[in-house]
Amino acid sequence: MKWLSFSVIALLSLPVCASQVEVLHWWTSGGEARAVEVLKSEWAEQGNQWNDFAVQGGGGKSAMTVLKSRALAANPPEAAHLKGFELHEWGSLGFLRDLTPMAEHLGWYPQLPPMVRDTLSQNGALMAVPTGIHRVNWLWLNRKVFERQGLKPPTDWAQFVAVADKLKEKGITPLAIGNEPWQIAVLFETVALGEGGKTFYRKAFLEQDSATLTGPDMVRVLTRFQQLRAYVPEKYAGLKWHQATNLLESGGAAMQVMGDWVKGELSAGNYRPGEDIECLPSPGSQGLFSYNLDSIAMFKQRDPAQLQAQGELARLLMTPRFQEAFNRVKGSIPALIKPDMSKFDRCAIRSYQDFLHAEQQDNLLPSMAEGMAVPTNMRQGIMDVLSSFFNDARANPEQTAQQLERAMRSTRSGAEQK
Ligand code: GAL
Repeated sequence: MKWLSFSVIALLSLPVCASQVEVLHWWTSGGEARAVEVLKSEWAEQGNQWNDFAVQGGGGKSAMTVLKSRALAANPPEAAHLKGFELHEWGSLGFLRDLTPMAEHLGWYPQLPPMVRDTLSQNGALMAVPTGIHRVNWLWLNRKVFERQGLKPPTDWAQFVAVADKLKEKGITPLAIGNEPWQIAVLFETVALGEGGKTFYRKAFLEQDSATLTGPDMVRVLTRFQQLRAYVPEKYAGLKWHQATNLLESGGAAMQVMGDWVKGELSAGNYRPGEDIECLPSPGSQGLFSYNLDSIAMFKQRDPAQLQAQGELARLLMTPRFQEAFNRVKGSIPALIKPDMSKFDRCAIRSYQDFLHAEQQDNLLPSMAEGMAVPTNMRQGIMDVLSSFFNDARANPEQTAQQLERAMRSTRSGAEQK
């Protein structure tokens, strides 16, 4: 505790000089890189230096592998994009700086929506600062393609299948997606929300209830999910999420189911979100909001200059000005209460309104695919089962439900034994 309060005093009392931080992240697509530029330039404006530690790969798997090797070599960066369970796991291992003294001193708590505060807290301590709230359960569709074909946007999965069949008949790829397990998991999660509903989703993923995981609703969800395999692009293997978005933009595909980082990609390519590319809640998930909270954590340091640099960065990230500028480019919404949304696009405004509504209605759901709902090894187990299932047309939904339950149970007991 003494050490922690020292770090705050150090932060506040050191003379102002250029701070240097190395920041690990996987924001490397066109839209994401533009968002990082916003951060870098605000940081540079304060006379500071930024050492970019960018690791390619949506979903962050490679970034996490690289981070582990740096941490094992006792040389972690000052800061890293760590979120959800991954954040808590690094926290439990004792690698992360407790930001509670700063939060208390600078009055951050009242600025955080309850979901944000809960997600970032571990045993009452604040382990990271938020950069933005992404909504995962979105359906993006190319308006021109829909208009040309005289099609209406689907509002449930049965309609989705009907629309997708029509598009396919016309030689248009219905669904832009690649075969990366995390992209497949995003699709599955939205089907689970749309076909199963929030109680099912909570029971399956948050309570990990065996009867729900192997029951008829799960079999129905898996059956629907498997149907969607027929609508993926010809070049589905190796297609990255942002390449899938490019396909959607060009009309090469009609729809994409993905979180709103898609929006960053759209604006980077001069497409207007909510106009050229429509944003709708994923089929059957109206009123629900599955979230992916992005956050930056600070690795423990002893050097007062590094501590100061971390503090400066955390402070910058918490300013409404930064949150507005960054999230307008990133596609997410600010993770602070009562943000000024006047300069945001239509989809962000919708996201914010839906977020508030979902908050009131108890409809906010942590995204499994994005590491918000289950521990990392369990998420990996789920993704393995889902991706082999999705890629095997003959796989059996009943057996897969059993496999899913087993995979979750074995990782759960593994975690309990530790
Ligand atoms: C998520 C991350 C988002 C987004 C996406 C694609 O895991 O939280 O910020 O960029 O990956 O890279």
